[in-house]
Amino acid sequence: MNALSLRPAIVTDLPSIYRGELAYIQQWEPTHEAGWRSQVEHNLALWVDNFELLTVAVLDGQFVGYSLWSPEDSFAELYTINVSEAYRRKGIGRALLDAYGVAALGSGCTHLSLSVRPDNPARLMYECAGFVAVGTDAHGYLRYERANGLGT
Ligand SMILES: CC(C)(COP(=O)(O)OP(=O)(O)OC[C@H]1O[C@@H](n2cnc3c(N)ncnc32)[C@H](O)[C@@H]1OP(=O)(O)O)[C@@H](O)C(=O)NCCC(=O)NCCS
Repeated sequence: MNALSLRPAIVTDLPSIYRGELAYIQQWEPTHEAGWRSQVEHNLALWVDNFELLTVAVLDGQFVGYSLWSPEDSFAELYTINVSEAYRRKGIGRALLDAYGVAALGSGCTHLSLSVRPDNPARLMYECAGFVAVGTDAHGYLRYERANGLGT
């Protein structure tokens, strides 16, 4: 793969992040699109409030993905991870996931955590990275966790 770099988000990334989040909703939660759009100010506030924890992947100078996490007590919750469709299966998602793990555990969190739809193949990426399914949340999403020191 050509030169991949990860960097903190800058404000001009927000439209690309918005488009990535909308594409996810349209692919995986199409019945929730109207609700998601009506909550867009809430989502924008989430991204802005955690702006320093928003990481962008750049390949050959082009925006190709992003991730966002936030500390919740001793857990670091991965809110979103997304790679532009044309750039998937090139290791970019795993690079973002690994960077989140290093940053979150380095900041003092003891566990990484996230939710994923049971039918989303992103599960495989999490499992390959040492995350373990610990249950199902109220919306039917699988909960995954990884303790500090257990990454691969
Ligand atoms: C999930 C996502 C971020 C993965 O990004 P990616 O750059 O394609 O991931 P990688 O190339 O690093 O894949 C790492 C491993 O995860 C697994 N994996 C990822 N996507 C997969 C897929 N669609 N099918 C099967 N396995 C997959 C594979 O084991 C892969 O390794 P391999 O390619 O060597 O077999 C990307 O598919 C995406 O943006 N999806 C839409 C948003 C989304 O669903 N986010 C997760 C919400 S919980």
